[in-house]
Amino acid sequence: MKSGFLDKLIERLGRIGPEDVQNYLLQLAQEKGLIETVFNAIQEGIIVTDAGGRITYVNDAACELFGLEAERSIGKRLDESVRGLDWKSLSQSEGAISRDMEIFYPANRFLNFYIVPLLIERRTAKDDGSTESRPTGRGVNGHGEPVGHAIILRDITESRRSTEKTIESERFKALTLLAAGVAHEIGNPLNSLHIHLQLMERKVRKLDGKVKEELQEAIAISRAEITRLDSIVTQFLQAIRPSKPVLHPENVNAIVEEAVRFFAPEIEDRDIVVEQELRSDLPLLELDRDQMKQVFYNVIKNSFEAMKRRGILRIATNMDATHVNVSFTDTGGGMSAESLSRVFEPYFTTKSSGSGLGLLIVRRIVREHGGEMAIESNEGKGLTLTIRLPYVDKRVRMLEEGTSNAEGGGRKVESE
Ligand SMILES: Nc1ncnc2c1ncn2[C@@H]1O[C@H](COP(=O)(O)OP(=O)(O)OP(=O)(O)O)[C@@H](O)[C@H]1O
Ligand SMILES: [Mg+2]
Repeated sequence: MKSGFLDKLIERLGRIGPEDVQNYLLQLAQEKGLIETVFNAIQEGIIVTDAGGRITYVNDAACELFGLEAERSIGKRLDESVRGLDWKSLSQSEGAISRDMEIFYPANRFLNFYIVPLLIERRTAKDDGSTESRPTGRGVNGHGEPVGHAIILRDITESRRSTEKTIESERFKALTLLAAGVAHEIGNPLNSLHIHLQLMERKVRKLDGKVKEELQEAIAISRAEITRLDSIVTQFLQAIRPSKPVLHPENVNAIVEEAVRFFAPEIEDRDIVVEQELRSDLPLLELDRDQMKQVFYNVIKNSFEAMKRRGILRIATNMDATHVNVSFTDTGGGMSAESLSRVFEPYFTTKSSGSGLGLLIVRRIVREHGGEMAIESNEGKGLTLTIRLPYVDKRVRMLEEGTSNAEGGGRKVESE
């Protein structure tokens, strides 16, 4: 609105005739329309409340962020329309407040709230019927009567998520370095144990009788355990070493089958049924075969550990326009919402002998292949883990010829 227009109008209020009133009202309505159009065009959400915390104005962006309907919200208290908002503490401050908040409805987003108290200078009527106006007070030291609040909302979801990703990858790098160091150090004593066991074995061969037999058995067990430890360390180093995947065109079904074959003895022991619904016409994917085997191995191992004995693991491969999906659905009872939210934290485990690194490694490898993963838990029943691997390089999607951004909706170049 033109600055001073209202002030001038108010000053002249006592002197204008009835014929002017219509013109002024028309002008006011036009100005209001213009402001509304401008407010609705901006990305930031804007809400104005009265002194009682009731909404007097809300723009389109704010409606979208909070899932509100403008007409139904006007006149309602803001903390009734936006559940969980601690309006009392937010509105008590005399100055502007900036706060971040996470909302879960209509979508999980992070918002920055900027709340400014609105203060209006009281106007004193003059003897001639006109009013005298003084500058409007605003902010901490503004003088005037509180008439409500203006709230400006900014969607900070993207910047927040990218910060979280950076922290997470830094944490993972530190962890990887430490774990790789430890695993490496374990390798040397293992070698030495192996050599000493060989020496013992040679000497034992020269003995006779029961003692010889017993010692030979003990040595065989020790050797098997050393081999097991050695393979765990080797596999672990392979998985966490920040090596870039070496990509070759691979048949994902073959890798799934290979991973399942690896578990054949365990499948029998635990009396588990593994159903494989592998779509035969999948495109070849650019994969690091060993790393992807490690991924499937970890996921299948988790399912087996969750099902313990008897259960069904269904592994399905499928595709859509851009991705091949590999899903693992088990009947192992799933996990609680709390566990689900912590599942990618390093060392989070509910098992007495778990390292809590399995899914973290799985996710790292999947991400390095440009893929994504999702976990859906049906508590008490089971869990579905889906890995999405791209087969179309969609890092950049160009506009089709002849389309322009100005055209309805505006298609954009997408990047990841
Ligand atoms: N299929 C599943 N069903 C139920 N819970 C699962 C399943 N997969 C993972 N979990 C839960 O997630 C936790 C973390 O899994 P993750 O593979 O990262 O570590 P872990 O299996 O505990 O240890 P590790 O894989 O290092 O031996 C598990 O301890 C378990 O509670
Ligand atoms: Mg695991």
